[in-house]
Amino acid sequence: MTHNFHWNVKGPMFNSLHQMFMTQYSEQWAALDQIAERIRALGYPAPGTYAQFAKLATIKEVEGVPAALDMVRHLVAAQEATARTARKLLPVVDEADDQPTADLLTQRLDVHEKTAWMLRSLLEE
Ligand SMILES: [Fe+2]
Repeated sequence: MTHNFHWNVKGPMFNSLHQMFMTQYSEQWAALDQIAERIRALGYPAPGTYAQFAKLATIKEVEGVPAALDMVRHLVAAQEATARTARKLLPVVDEADDQPTADLLTQRLDVHEKTAWMLRSLLEE
């Protein structure tokens, strides 16, 4: 969603949103690699196809090209949903005594909450 919006955003906020979305999707791609490699380290195959991503995703894809501020609203909701997922998993990995995954989840929680705040700030006066 973030990369899609980086490509398709338009309007007076183009430059700042295009850049901001690039920073965010670049961070997300790096995190995706870490998460996939953690899954491999735990002995499971990492999902790697769009079909698998679509099946596993909790965030619904956005149809069409929303207006710039609607893109920001979609991204706020997606960042908050991702933070909720990370928070919900923390007790599960604690129970499993899996510190590396807990560390990864804590980092994701921090990034997604901070990114949600930055995006929400664009919607405030
Ligand atoms: Fe680009």
